Parts: sequence; structure tokens; C-alpha cells
Amino acid sequence: MANAIEASRLDVGYGGRQTAVKVLSGLDLTVAAGSFLSILGPSGCGKSTLLRVVADLLDPLGGTISVLGDTPHAVRSRRDVGFVFQDSTLLPWRTVRDNVRLPLGVGQGSLTRTIEDRSDELLELMGLAGFGERLPHQLSGGQRQRVAIARALLGQPKLLLMDEPFGALDEITRDRLNDELLALWRRTGTTILFVTHSIAEAAYLGERVIVLAANPGRLIKDLDMRPFKQDGNRCSREDAAVAAAMAELRGALGQAS
Ligand SMILES: Nc1ncnc2c1ncn2[C@@H]1O[C@H](COP(=O)(O)OP(=O)(O)O)[C@@H](O)[C@H]1O
Ligand SMILES: [Mg+2]
Repeated sequence: MANAIEASRLDVGYGGRQTAVKVLSGLDLTVAAGSFLSILGPSGCGKSTLLRVVADLLDPLGGTISVLGDTPHAVRSRRDVGFVFQDSTLLPWRTVRDNVRLPLGVGQGSLTRTIEDRSDELLELMGLAGFGERLPHQLSGGQRQRVAIARALLGQPKLLLMDEPFGALDEITRDRLNDELLALWRRTGTTILFVTHSIAEAAYLGERVIVLAANPGRLIKDLDMRPFKQDGNRCSREDAAVAAAMAELRGALGQAS
């Protein structure tokens, strides 16, 4: 399969077909399977809304979207998609391990694939070996986000949707998690859609960065980052070429706001 996402003339809004205000209008977007896409845009432009459509949490008003060659609904029921939000909602009364295991027990009825309990392996992968018996309040913010990522990875999703996952973290922790996420992406080949407010983070992580403008949400910039980086989407944060790309993104974002 060549494309993880194919959206054509996508219209999305809230409030039903008749009364809806369009949040996204006429969006065309193709995302190659296995790629890392960063999504930038001013607050309220529809970034989270776009992820919700991909995740089958919201139906589009018009246009077409295919995810992993199928409908968003089919992909969701096969559990091929994982989601990480900014405020990872860990259940405070469950241990770290049981939080990672949460998808094992959720909504079995409608799902077409059962998943294996890989919680210990994932906790180790996320640097949390030995933390399985702790409660969420006994972890730092960065560690809690790692638990949320481990949970999202439990079903070995082919597509990982990340909505400002590191937005609430300090810069050092964020940089470290960025590097861990890239390592994970290289190892697994999962397609990643990553929403962020940070131009630096978008540029560092993405093989490609898109910028959305608001009212209505639409694509105003589509930048291939690969020419600015080495093979395997590698760059240094201080790279002059990457700085040039960031300036270009900053310009687009300035026009979008
Ligand atoms: N559940 C909802 N009901 C009605 N309007 C919503 C809902 N969620 C988001 N919106 C509106 O849709 C627009 C896009 O929101 P969102 O996708 O969350 O933006 P972003 O993630 O880019 O900040 C905003 O104007 C927001 O107010
Ligand atoms: Mg959002």
C-alpha cells in the first residue's frame, strides 16, 4: 500500500450537515505509508479536527477519505490506529501497567482484532521498566506521556496520531522524547501524523511539514523536509539548512494567523 491517507475535497464541521460551520474546507491531502508528517497551524484552524476524522471520531460533511486503503471506521475497528493527546488521560487509580493494558479491555464487541498484552515490552521500550506497579501520580509529566505512547502502541498500530503530545513538557524532556519517537518510528515503520505548535519540533521530526490556515481550515504550505536532512530523516537541531526550512515555515505560519 502506497498511501496511508488519501483525502480529497474534504469538508469537515460540527453541528450536523445542515447547520454546520465548516472547520476544514476542500482539503486535499495524501500521506505516504510509513512517513512522518508534522502538522502546524494557528489555534482553532482544525488540526485536531483533521485527526478526529482520520480516527473515525467524526464524520466528514463532504469529500472522501481513505485511511490505510479503507474507511476510517474499518481501520478503527481493526485497531490499526493509535492516538496520543496532549493531556494523556491515565486512570489515576490504575497502575502504569494496567493503564498501558487499557485497550485490551475496551469495547471488545465492535472490534475485529484482539491484541496481545505486550505491556511489559512496551514499558521497557519507553524507558519505564520497573515503573509498572506505580500509580500515575508517582510519575513525572514526561513519564506519563511515555505511558500514553506505550498504550497507543499496544495494538501495534499501522498509523499513530499524535495531537500535541509533548506540548506540556519542558524543553529537555521534549527533545529527548522527540529522539525516542524518531527511533521508534524508524524501527516500526508506523505512519505518524504529529500535530504541534512548535516550528522547531515540526521541522526536526517531520519528513514533511504541512501548515494549515484557519477559517476555513485549509492547506497553505506543504514542505518536503527530506532535502534539508540526511537519509533516514536525520538532522541536527542546529543545522543551517533546517534553520532555513524553519524560517520558511515561520513565514507561512505568519500568513496563516
Ligand atoms: N466539538 C466541537 N463542537 C463545535 N465546534 C468545535 C468542536 N471542536 C472544535 N470545534 C471548533 O472547530 C475549530 C477547530 O478546532 P480544532 O480542530 O480543535 O483546532 P486546532 O486543533 O487546530 O486548535 C475551532 O473553531 C473550534 O472551536
Ligand atoms: Mg488541537
